[in-house]
Amino acid sequence: AGGKGHISIVLLGATGDLAKKYLWQGFFQLYVNEVSRRHSFSFHGAALTPPEKGSELMFNVLKSLSCPVDITPDRCVLLKDQFLKLSRYRQLKTAENYTALHLDIQKSLADEGLHEAGRLFYLSVPPFAYADIAKNINASCRPLPGAWLRVVLEKPFGHDYESAKSLAAELQTYFQEEEIYRVDHYLGKQTVEQILPFRLSNLKHLDPIWNRHHVERVEIVMKETLDAKGRISFYEEYGVIRDVIQNHLTEILASVAMEVPRNLSSSEDILRAKLSLLDSLHKLELGSAVAGQYQDYLAQVKEEIETKPNFFTNTKTFAAVLVHVDNVRWEGVPFLLLSGKALDERTAFVRVVFKDNAFCVQKQSNRDPLRNSCKPKQIIFHIGHGEIGSPAILVSQGLFKPNVNPSKWQRASELPSIQVFGQPLSDYYVYHPIVEKDAYSVLISNIYRGKKDSFITTKNLLASWSFWTPLLESLEHESPRVYPGGTGNEQLLDFVIEDGSLRFVTDENLEVLSVAPK
Ligand code: BG6
Repeated sequence: AGGKGHISIVLLGATGDLAKKYLWQGFFQLYVNEVSRRHSFSFHGAALTPPEKGSELMFNVLKSLSCPVDITPDRCVLLKDQFLKLSRYRQLKTAENYTALHLDIQKSLADEGLHEAGRLFYLSVPPFAYADIAKNINASCRPLPGAWLRVVLEKPFGHDYESAKSLAAELQTYFQEEEIYRVDHYLGKQTVEQILPFRLSNLKHLDPIWNRHHVERVEIVMKETLDAKGRISFYEEYGVIRDVIQNHLTEILASVAMEVPRNLSSSEDILRAKLSLLDSLHKLELGSAVAGQYQDYLAQVKEEIETKPNFFTNTKTFAAVLVHVDNVRWEGVPFLLLSGKALDERTAFVRVVFKDNAFCVQKQSNRDPLRNSCKPKQIIFHIGHGEIGSPAILVSQGLFKPNVNPSKWQRASELPSIQVFGQPLSDYYVYHPIVEKDAYSVLISNIYRGKKDSFITTKNLLASWSFWTPLLESLEHESPRVYPGGTGNEQLLDFVIEDGSLRFVTDENLEVLSVAPK
């Protein structure tokens, strides 16, 4: 058959939380962007819920989709109507259900004279359900020859190196590596996505200073105010390192520290460079980390799950880890990865702090000699929340004037009068995205485009687990430092980095980790 290529999108877990909050919105955005281009689409929401109830739940979600900012309200009404007409709910439970889905897709392709371009299965379901679903897709729902299959998975991807490896091996019995898309939603955050392009387009300025001679330290921070309440059974099993540091913060670390490939349109080159960075991380020791647990955590565990008398838990809800990279570029430079629940603020950023003597690429200004080389120099990739609120890239003016993808990012024109890391915002070049996008919309578009470097390959996943697993194992038996926080947040944990050490404010300025370059 000729005509437009057709893409069938199957969302499993179509009425779940993630689908309600982000995924349907992301698929609607994809439809809006692509409707008048190469492909036609159909959307199949699926879950275990029987058809009538499931359909009602799903269409309630679809009816409340909001309009993308880049289209007019009239066009939105029209497109939303079309999107609803292209969407169906179905129960996917048994092998027969999968066969029926396959036959339905085939039939509608034939009825409409379309050829199949691809099939996308988004598994927004708990990991224990993967194996069965994978088996069914492979056995009876593969697309017709010539069309692609993409199977999208949500974390957790294992609990440690061994479990991740056996999960990956199981998937590999059903799918080719190129068919597997593992989501780390931080890779869809606009600022994180911009790190490599930023590094490449400012190579002339950055290459001479992006190294141990000029970088004092790098902080990769994700602080949350919310605690683990309501998710205790998940959290008890995972804890902060598995929940966000092994994945989100490690991916960010890789984007900051890896060698930048010359060609960012090659996913293969990017993934290879990332793997090589992950492989060169210096083995962690117990002394590389401080771990904490917020005060109310134990009580919350007892409330949410059944526990024995005298129960106690070593689960970490906070961790700060010093990572070093064993290569010529980064030898001795501390990378601090820090995250926790029930902290004093919600923020996520990367801060690259340059040494005082990092040379100024910018010419000294004759008119205002104070405005140049001697001020603290830093580059901040502000991922979200925090003082600035939205995604932003900040470069100290004493460093250089950056080049930031002008079709996607713009220079901030109005700057609020706040201080960011000891400097007024006006001391930085500040850029923000022209259109703010949700991470899931970005990722769904990248799945559609087959942009594999926005996802986690099996090799890179295992490299990350093999780095983190020994630390996780040795921390298992260490009791975490208990910190205030939790409900009420009356007394909060905060940290300061001064004179080369990380100290906790509530710990009477106890020195905890030395973040001075080695
Ligand atoms: C998730 C973690 O991956 O990321 C959560 O499981 C965490 O514990 C969340 O709260 C944070 O993501 P975001 O996008 O809200 O910063």
